[in-house]
Amino acid sequence: MIRLYEQHAKQIAKIERECFSKPWSEQSVLDAIRSGHTFFGEFESDSLIAFAGVNVVCGEGYVDNVAVCESHRRQGIGEKLVTALIEHCVENSADFITLEVRESNLSAISLYEKCGFSRVGVRPNFYTAPQENAVIMTKELI
Ligand SMILES: CC(C)(COP(=O)(O)OP(=O)(O)OC[C@H]1O[C@@H](n2cnc3c(N)ncnc32)[C@H](O)[C@@H]1OP(=O)(O)O)[C@@H](O)C(=O)NCCC(=O)NCCS
Repeated sequence: MIRLYEQHAKQIAKIERECFSKPWSEQSVLDAIRSGHTFFGEFESDSLIAFAGVNVVCGEGYVDNVAVCESHRRQGIGEKLVTALIEHCVENSADFITLEVRESNLSAISLYEKCGFSRVGVRPNFYTAPQENAVIMTKELI
């Protein structure tokens, strides 16, 4: 996985728009990178085809997002991205890593479970467009 920087914000935002109903804008991605969030990605030729982001604060790694372009799914890229996020959190002395995922997003929940995350709770109506509960998942790192 390749570390992504400010110059990749436009391509990250493009994948956001392809994959999510409430995508991060290019500016939101830029703001996140500038404030210390870390992004990794996978390229095909010069095109970004997948990315994932995480923010480590006070011993907690919080996953911003994980997304793989539809045409490149089921090839192990999502798993490699989540592994890169976990390694980054370990290197930055996080005690645990946490995330939210839509209750209906069974492929992502399965990916996170494969990577060692457990369901620890539900945030009712956390998401909009459409409204839906979030499943909270965490992985202990120590
Ligand atoms: C979720 C997502 C990142 C998975 O990426 P991917 O590259 O296809 O995943 P991988 O090929 O690495 O698969 C790893 C594991 O994820 C799970 N998985 C991935 N796609 C799945 C699917 N369609 N159905 C069921 N399980 C799936 C499986 O456990 C899989 O392991 P396996 O191949 O041994 O069965 C991808 O589907 C995606 O970008 N979805 C849209 C954006 C999104 O929902 N992101 C998560 C937001 S919280």
